Amino acid sequence: MTKSEVIEQLLPKRRSAPRAAATAFAPANIALCKYWGKRDAELNLPTASSLSISLGKLGSEVTLAPRAGHDRFTLNGQLIAPESSFARRAAAFLGLFRPAPDFYYDVTATNTVPTAAGLASSASGFAALTLALNELFAWKLDRRKLSILARLGSGSASRSLFEGFVEWHAGRAPTGMDSFAEPLATKWPDLRIGLVVLSDKEKPIGSRDAMAQTRDTSPLYAVWPETVARDLVALKEAISQRDFTQLGEVAEGNALAMHATMLAARPAILYFLPESIEAIHTVHALRAEGCEVYFTMDAGPNLKLLFRKADLRYVIKGFPEVQVVAPFAT
Ligand code: PMV
Repeated sequence: MTKSEVIEQLLPKRRSAPRAAATAFAPANIALCKYWGKRDAELNLPTASSLSISLGKLGSEVTLAPRAGHDRFTLNGQLIAPESSFARRAAAFLGLFRPAPDFYYDVTATNTVPTAAGLASSASGFAALTLALNELFAWKLDRRKLSILARLGSGSASRSLFEGFVEWHAGRAPTGMDSFAEPLATKWPDLRIGLVVLSDKEKPIGSRDAMAQTRDTSPLYAVWPETVARDLVALKEAISQRDFTQLGEVAEGNALAMHATMLAARPAILYFLPESIEAIHTVHALRAEGCEVYFTMDAGPNLKLLFRKADLRYVIKGFPEVQVVAPFAT
């Protein structure tokens, strides 16, 4: 099935004329149980479910307006070259939603994640684009359908439609209509995320290619879906019981298992920098001293810390530059 066929099934049959402009915001999210491996690369359908936490006010705001001639992209106040990877990915996604072949978009995006934070902005970016399209054309789609549409831009974007803890169901249907994200009810006000930025350089290999290479060549990939299934159950239990130790241990173990699986790919996929290893040792040293802090890592060298509000001052001792997010702050 193609992306266009999925879209045809989801969008209202009677289409209204676009508004003059529409603006939407979506939060960034960090997976505690990772998405790493697709069962369908065209539709970004995952092999396994995943679970994330959204970062509140940190994310992407997108304004869309119709435009003649060609698409135009402005990111954080700067006009972006059409051949840049940002513009090409956004244009490919928007190209799925042109009401007429000569209909183009003026896209103004602002990332509230500090630009140098080394956090992937594709999840919040595609989620905000989807929400802005929903406003621009007054589709009035529910969040589940919007989550499916955002997934067509980037898998993890399906989770950025929601606040707090979010589970993305892998689904089984070849159409992907059962592969959407949903929020969990639990709120955890004293939970904190710490962003530890070690490098904002372009990563050596993007997640799409890295996932395919892992699946095709890593001897450890065979056990990855089972690991995810077990970790997902344990994480949901930790969240519903507010068991921070279990949450941290499972999230850290899941991230390391994902990276171990990638390391065993041939050639190896190595996102760690020497600084990443050093930071991991700092996390472990803090834990040995009684400060309960855990980390997770994605397709890049930076660490994301998990800790509770009461431990903030100890975490800052180990990581003076940490940027702290309170995901459940009102
Ligand atoms: O959605 P993508 O293609 O950017 O992949 C995201 C992959 C990870 O961030 C490493 C894991 C995840 O679940 O977010």
